[in-house]
Amino acid sequence: MEGPVLPPKNYQINRGFRFVDDYLYCEEIRVCDLLSSKISGQTVATPLYVYSKKQIEANIDKYKMAMMRETERNIQLSYSVKANMNPTVIKLMMDHGLFLTLVSGHELRLALQLGQDPQRIILNGSGKMDWEVELACKRGVLVNVDSAFNLRQTVRICQQGGYVATVLLRVNPDINPDVHGYVSTGQEGSKFGIPGEELDDVLEMAVKSERIRVVGLHCHIGSTLTDSHKFRQSTQVLVDLYQKIQKKFPEMQILNLGGGLSIPYKAQISLFEETKQMLDLEFDKYKDQRILELYENLLNKRITLATFLESIKSLPHGIEICLKLREQLPAEVLVPEPEDLVKSVCDILPLNTIAILEPGRSLVGNSAILLSRVLGTKSSGKRNFIVLDGSMTEVIRPCLYGAYHHIELAEPSRIFSHVNSDNQLTIVSDIVGPVCESADFLGKDRQLVPPHTGCLMAVFDTGAYCSSMSSNYNMRVRPAELLVDGDKATIIRKCETFENMMFCYTDCSQNSENES
Ligand code: LLP
Repeated sequence: MEGPVLPPKNYQINRGFRFVDDYLYCEEIRVCDLLSSKISGQTVATPLYVYSKKQIEANIDKYKMAMMRETERNIQLSYSVKANMNPTVIKLMMDHGLFLTLVSGHELRLALQLGQDPQRIILNGSGKMDWEVELACKRGVLVNVDSAFNLRQTVRICQQGGYVATVLLRVNPDINPDVHGYVSTGQEGSKFGIPGEELDDVLEMAVKSERIRVVGLHCHIGSTLTDSHKFRQSTQVLVDLYQKIQKKFPEMQILNLGGGLSIPYKAQISLFEETKQMLDLEFDKYKDQRILELYENLLNKRITLATFLESIKSLPHGIEICLKLREQLPAEVLVPEPEDLVKSVCDILPLNTIAILEPGRSLVGNSAILLSRVLGTKSSGKRNFIVLDGSMTEVIRPCLYGAYHHIELAEPSRIFSHVNSDNQLTIVSDIVGPVCESADFLGKDRQLVPPHTGCLMAVFDTGAYCSSMSSNYNMRVRPAELLVDGDKATIIRKCETFENMMFCYTDCSQNSENES
């Protein structure tokens, strides 16, 4: 007997992804079709990262629009490469004129190889190896000096090589960004930035050394920020210091405000009941046909809350409604937009300075999914498990930071219409990978239609800190990465092979032969 059927998913998630009759599309391509056709002459398999070019460009545009509106200020955008170091992604950022913020010598080698102008590169790092400092100074990139020892190291290397370093001083503004401790970087006791007690010595050393040109200041208080007020607070600390020491460093012009803006990882979860109550209240006051239509779409799950809010912004009272909702909804559902970030600091930026924003996550995070296949489902005691072929080696954020990544079936389940015990169409499961470790989970307590074995599932918002933090744990190969542009998909990273993984190991049997 056929059970009740859930209405199919039909909604737009963002510029890159949408559901049409339960099938997930990346731009114009149904993601399940990516696995059945040849791409760049090759077949690809799950797990697989799928990126949308349009979404990356939409993210860049949001920052650019916000920066352009502030005509009195010179604001530059710098992409934090650590979020995603795929050369195709970096190149896209370069094509849009972004600076690059880097954290290692190899990121620097890559940026130079891709042809980035060294003067539009910032090398950051609380510990830099001599060769990394040397390469940066030799090529004339901006170096973020992070401590007294880092300054002494930079002076020494410049003296040896006959270079002059162009330097930003990274200060620790001692601000609690209200984020997971592992991604908080600007509080007293943090390993990042020049600690308050070292600042005077560093300034004195920098003034005295002819090998050091201080051209600006830097701070970065942390990642996954959901409160732009914190960003304003740290900027204020930077501006105060800038004004205090400006006379000592006449060349100083740059204020690098850091990155850190979060993305609404929970934008797709159903908060319809809570939202409805709030919105019903608002609608008594603001009756606008277009808002009501969008509201209707929201209630019928044709659009997500994020799309709803984005769409009503331009309508009368739309911004008011957005602001009210923002105050009441959980932070991961609605985070500040680049525009809010820019607006939060503009009035305190001194004229004639160049402000740099260096986001990573908010430029690429929502541009990708990890496409994965169900290997099987099982229950143990009261817990149900959906076991995927994707795991913590591709998406480590849930296990490392307890982070939320939304997960959905990417195609219709072949079994859901038969599940009708107590009329329940969905069950609550943990979504886990095959890695031999209980920390290997991608989502906990997720209410989903039970997928069939082999069903494709999508882990969302995996564009930042997923591929770049992936590993070979359990001898798993790192997956392929695809970039979708309209109806065209390109392989932008091949899947690793067993041979790639073994490349650096010295072969034990050969060693013993050589020794004998
Ligand atoms: N600038 C500096 C100096 C940074 O250290 C970072 C990130 C950024 C900019 C860019 O931050 P974003 O805009 O991407 O938040 N693995 C963690 C995030 C670590 C971020 C470290 N620094 C995660 O998966 O959440």
